[in-house]
Amino acid sequence: MKKLDEDGRPAIEGDLARLVAPSVAKMLSNQGPRGAFIASPDFAEYRYCWLRDGSFTAYALDCAGEHGSSRAFHEWSAAAIEGIAPVIARALDRRAAGEPIDPARMPPARFDLSGRPVGDDWPNFQVDGYGTWLWSLQQHLERSGEKALPSRLARSVDSVGRYLVEFGTSPCYDVWEESGDSVHTATLGCVAAGLRAAASMLGAPELAERAASLQAFVLDQGRRVGRFAKSDHSQQVDAALLWLCEPFHLVPPDEPAFVETVRAIAAELDLEGGTRRYPTDTYYGGGAWPVLTASLGLYYARAGDITAAERCLDWVAERVDDHGRLAEQFGGEGRDPEHYREWLARWGPPAADLVWSHAMYVVLATELGPPPAAPDVTTKTEPIGSQQ
Ligand code: BGC
Repeated sequence: MKKLDEDGRPAIEGDLARLVAPSVAKMLSNQGPRGAFIASPDFAEYRYCWLRDGSFTAYALDCAGEHGSSRAFHEWSAAAIEGIAPVIARALDRRAAGEPIDPARMPPARFDLSGRPVGDDWPNFQVDGYGTWLWSLQQHLERSGEKALPSRLARSVDSVGRYLVEFGTSPCYDVWEESGDSVHTATLGCVAAGLRAAASMLGAPELAERAASLQAFVLDQGRRVGRFAKSDHSQQVDAALLWLCEPFHLVPPDEPAFVETVRAIAAELDLEGGTRRYPTDTYYGGGAWPVLTASLGLYYARAGDITAAERCLDWVAERVDDHGRLAEQFGGEGRDPEHYREWLARWGPPAADLVWSHAMYVVLATELGPPPAAPDVTTKTEPIGSQQ
């Protein structure tokens, strides 16, 4: 039996705060002077700031009490979004004129650390990050005690809200930056969570209605099949579906279709105790991701299965290396050596330190125990900034 503290939260044995303090420090040291988080400091392809990774990272820092750092990210994001206001406006105009979507002209998934879009052929049309940003910003306002949306962020919140109303259910690349011709259930979850947050921050009931109907649509689809599916083109399970419950709270943990989804994730995506992205994943051999193992742990914690949640936490904790690094994924080289080698030849060794991996680990730890102590500055790596 787990001990409970006065608030009825489980008092975990061992010092969770000390355990994850280096990961908090890692997130802080990978934040540029303007507030962006680099996705990974050691993997060239990830030398940018993704709205998705950054928004989850800011959320983790709010969970850890590092509100100033989260705030700097949100200021940076709002400015970056302000900078692409013409891109959003033109996309909305083309929509109003009935023109088809041109993915190459849609708002980007990632920015350089100064907040400029990166002009390359990346599969940029991914709406989830915009939804996750709105959700994360509202979490920041609530958790930092600020509550009201500062007026200088309101323009970007409004423009992202309008963008998601028009394009939130369009086929686009998913959270794994793949399958651009499909409508992805996890993406719809990010959009619904974002619209709900925007509705509350802006006091805009029409956005709340839109969020509620999207939420009902996702729930209805899951119930009809008996579990949630990856997309309108694939009945596979995808571990990003976990976010529908935690952290977005769009479905309750005891929803039968969701319980069945978690059962499928645990049965089909387990790799030596960690969680893979989806069954046919081949990226670097399709290993198990700390981001997703921690997400599964978060679900278990919410569902009250603390032992299972702790098992997920331990799996991640054991993978933090002696330098405090936490990689993107583990075990792909043994699971599918051929594809692992293919990616190795293409992009070199996979990310050995992924900021988002630290983030979800910290979120799970703070869910299971008290917020981590202030980071030990001696564990910090060199602050980034040369790319700014
Ligand atoms: C993942 C994305 C992530 C990006 C940067 C990609 O490999 O599929 O979800 O945003 O890396 O970390």
